[in-house]
Amino acid sequence: MQNALLSVENITVSFDGFNALDGISLRLMPTSIRVLIGPNGAGKSTLLDTVIGNVRPTKGRIVFRGEDITELNEYKIVRRGICRKFQAPGILENLSVLDNLSLAARPRRESWRSFGVGIDSSVRARVERVLERIGLEEKRHTMAGQLSHGQKQWLEIGMVVSSHADLLLLDEPAAGMSLDESAQTAELIRSLASDHSFLVIDHDMTFVEQLSAPVSVMHMGRMLKEGTLEEIQRDPQVIAVYLGREKEEAVA
Ligand SMILES: Nc1ncnc2c1ncn2[C@@H]1O[C@H](COP(=O)(O)OP(=O)(O)OP(=O)(O)O)[C@@H](O)[C@H]1O
Ligand SMILES: [Mg+2]
Repeated sequence: MQNALLSVENITVSFDGFNALDGISLRLMPTSIRVLIGPNGAGKSTLLDTVIGNVRPTKGRIVFRGEDITELNEYKIVRRGICRKFQAPGILENLSVLDNLSLAARPRRESWRSFGVGIDSSVRARVERVLERIGLEEKRHTMAGQLSHGQKQWLEIGMVVSSHADLLLLDEPAAGMSLDESAQTAELIRSLASDHSFLVIDHDMTFVEQLSAPVSVMHMGRMLKEGTLEEIQRDPQVIAVYLGREKEEAVA
């Protein structure tokens, strides 16, 4: 059996005695996508917070590439290759698309010799590849602040990819996007999954379907069900706690 890239093992997170995560486990293989869905307050964002080291579990273990990272600080986890992208883009609006990507792509420790001599050729080549992958070649000299909402999100995904991350944690990456932008975002994630892994939270079932990846359903800090989207959509428990409720809201 292939080794998991990320293994969340029986994690419990307690906020003042309330278990936001209650013995949750999840395995993610290299170059794969996993979608996390579930009702508000299920613990999805808390799970991402815990993986990135922003929240400390009271029980359990998180293993990344075979190493225990449970006790590491966020910056050390980021250095090992996990990155979390929040809903709001973290781009520098007054810099060009190219400069944003170049900053993200810089080697972690620039030697004093590289100081002041600009970007070296390996960084430049890397940035060019990412520009092409996120479809923003034509916008390379555009100030990031002038991009559309969708393009800003793609730029930020590009920055995370440039920064040598292997595992990207995305919390509702298509929120606020048009249908077209949302479909393009799913396409981008799928293409980047040829050499990255993704843990993606979303509520939008059209977007989830476009990702065509296995789905994990969380409920009250636990894993309720894992399977293909079709299996999930047929599951009576999932319908009762999540999908059915959405339909009622849509009708109301
Ligand atoms: N820092 C915190 N302190 C106390 N309680 C918290 C904290 N963060 C989250 N919680 C609680 O933990 C539970 C899980 O929250 P979380 O944000 O992970 O849910 P979620 O599944 O991401 O929900 P949503 O779909 O609304 O984003 C909620 O009851 C929330 O109120
Ligand atoms: Mg959340």
